[in-house]
Amino acid sequence: MNETPFVPVAKTGEIPRGEGRTFEVAGRLVAVFFDGTGYSAIDDLCPHMGASLGSGPLCDGVVTCPWHAWRFRLSDGAWCDNPKLRVDVFQTRVVGDTIEVCVPPARAVELPSRHDD
Ligand code: FES
Repeated sequence: MNETPFVPVAKTGEIPRGEGRTFEVAGRLVAVFFDGTGYSAIDDLCPHMGASLGSGPLCDGVVTCPWHAWRFRLSDGAWCDNPKLRVDVFQTRVVGDTIEVCVPPARAVELPSRHDD
């Protein structure tokens, strides 16, 4: 069984309350936030024009994109204005004083086989 591992990204205390930080995990940029009680992780890339969500402010479980103020819920990644649009959400945990994130591998893209005969 291939279980996706949790990857250490930072020490507790390195992400201030109400803020996020961006880390590369398994080839993806992941935004990790601290709300004062726990850590949440979502895809760092804003689906609008690609700003880093990890640099946006966090309030009441919602991060606001620093470029054009789209807002995303950390609980499920939904865009507050249209919950059909979502960013990926990742599991987090704290082991000792280390924050860890679990980022499953991106789905492989199957290319059509090529026949040159
Ligand atoms: S890039 Fe995030 S709202 Fe525009």
